[in-house]
Amino acid sequence: MKTQPIKHQTAPPRIEVPSHPVWPSLGDVEKEALKQRIIALLKAQNAVLVAHYYVDGDLQALAEETGGCVADSLEMARYGTTSDADTIVVCGVRFMGETAKILNPEKRVLMPDLAATCSLDEGCPIDQFNTFCDEHPDRTVVVYANTSAEVKARADWMVTSGIALPIVRHLHERGEKILWAPDKHLGHYVQQQTGADMLMWDSSCVVHEEFKGFALERLKRLHPDAAVLVHPESPEDVLRHADIIGSTTRLIKAVTEMPNDAFIVATDDGIFWKMHQLAPGKKLISAPTAGVGATCESCAHCPWMAKNSLINLEQVLLGGYNTITVEPAIRAKAVKSIQRMLDFATEHNISGALPSR
Ligand code: 13P
Ligand code: SF4
Repeated sequence: MKTQPIKHQTAPPRIEVPSHPVWPSLGDVEKEALKQRIIALLKAQNAVLVAHYYVDGDLQALAEETGGCVADSLEMARYGTTSDADTIVVCGVRFMGETAKILNPEKRVLMPDLAATCSLDEGCPIDQFNTFCDEHPDRTVVVYANTSAEVKARADWMVTSGIALPIVRHLHERGEKILWAPDKHLGHYVQQQTGADMLMWDSSCVVHEEFKGFALERLKRLHPDAAVLVHPESPEDVLRHADIIGSTTRLIKAVTEMPNDAFIVATDDGIFWKMHQLAPGKKLISAPTAGVGATCESCAHCPWMAKNSLINLEQVLLGGYNTITVEPAIRAKAVKSIQRMLDFATEHNISGALPSR
């Protein structure tokens, strides 16, 4: 297997990790009234909710209740294109809203908070990325979905965690050398699995980066019958302990399909809402983030995903705020790398959706 050193960009941007927002706690009656007002607004505006598994469980429940979608990034991207809603409200992070807008330029795309970004997106500024690509014109540029519209516009392919392996394998079999950005951990995992020649950007997810292999090993000893589920944005010393490595949808499927009664889960704990819903009897344990007594910045919960709540969802629907826009020239280029992925998924029957219940 060919191993390329990780390429460090000259001045990696420093990521400011916000603290988790504190939302007012709502009583049952108040919450129900708020939900009903949102449902009426969605109907009046022919709007649909598209939510990621990491956002608050109330938002996931509402998306399902109102005929929207709760999914991984691959399915979120695809879902908007199949819906006849006029407005797509993306409860997730900014790149998910931008992808929805790029694929559905005629639709209005709103988000509860436009400051809901992602450390991977922030860690790959377009100017530095352009320089990196210019230095390696012989390579096929493959970028993770967690990037800006501008970075996608520079790429040949966009991939999500649910489809990165088959796409890179396909490119490797065609003899193509790859420039990969931005997640070094996912990139390293894909490289190991496919043997592809990959030159990598140096960035990571601040949430998954905090899972620690040594602490996970100790936790495994306390729960020897638990299966270990790991998202591939995690570092290699965490992946080493995994029974299953995969996208959020893949990890949820594992909880429903594996015979184990307990699971140690190394990804954002927002995913527990869906896991509990589909496998209510199973015990879910968060993988340790930084060992005993350590502090952590995200504590297995993405601070940007946490910016989505029922409260700001109602506000954007009332005010029509937080519309996602993508410059037409950027959109025209970015749509190619995204559509290439969606066409590949269709051709190879790859889906990010859970089987319907
Ligand atoms: P998935 O595509 O697996 O849902 O991952 C998205 C993400 O941002 C994980 O941190
Ligand atoms: Fe980005 Fe990590 Fe948050 Fe996913 S969990 S959106 S990769 S910062």
